[in-house]
Amino acid sequence: MEIKLKKLELSDAKDLQKVINNKEIIRRLDDENIKYPFTLADAKKYIRKSLKDKNTYEFGIIFKNKFVGTVVLENPNQGKKAYEVGYCIAKEYWGKGIATKAVKKIVRFGFSKLKAKRIWAGVLSNNPASARVLEKTVFS
Ligand SMILES: CC(C)(COP(=O)(O)OP(=O)(O)OC[C@H]1O[C@@H](n2cnc3c(N)ncnc32)[C@H](O)[C@@H]1OP(=O)(O)O)[C@@H](O)C(=O)NCCC(=O)NCCS
Repeated sequence: MEIKLKKLELSDAKDLQKVINNKEIIRRLDDENIKYPFTLADAKKYIRKSLKDKNTYEFGIIFKNKFVGTVVLENPNQGKKAYEVGYCIAKEYWGKGIATKAVKKIVRFGFSKLKAKRIWAGVLSNNPASARVLEKTVFS
């Protein structure tokens, strides 16, 4: 099973909207800026903000030529040595190992290209699938 990461661009807004506009996803993201319904205008705003922040490295996840989610390194601290990783997969693609592969790829990018020393994630206690993704990568 292969996935690719591509830089998130404004032209991904429609695909991103479809991925995020789901109550189960929005609840787990726990981001006060992301509310249901997540409209196309919200998706454009989200992408513009992501592109504007030079310390945010956000990618679309491509699986079988389809945009199925996003993965991001953001919020650097400790002199850009530590980054937070975030991820989100369209509901219909859950359970295929896509998030695990995407996190592995972006973690490699963070350590090699960004010269990060530490990559961390925060997970709500009611999100065991997300905790499992981290266990399956390098976070255990
Ligand atoms: C969390 C999320 C990214 C996982 O994506 P995914 O592509 O389905 O993840 P993977 O298939 O790589 O791995 C999921 C793992 O969680 C496990 N899992 C799924 N539901 C679970 C549950 N209720 N309890 C425990 N484990 C669970 C799966 O079995 C799998 O582990 P396994 O390979 O050992 O069987 C996806 O559910 C999502 O986008 N959720 C909404 C957004 C979100 O939560 N983002 C993270 C915020 S911290």
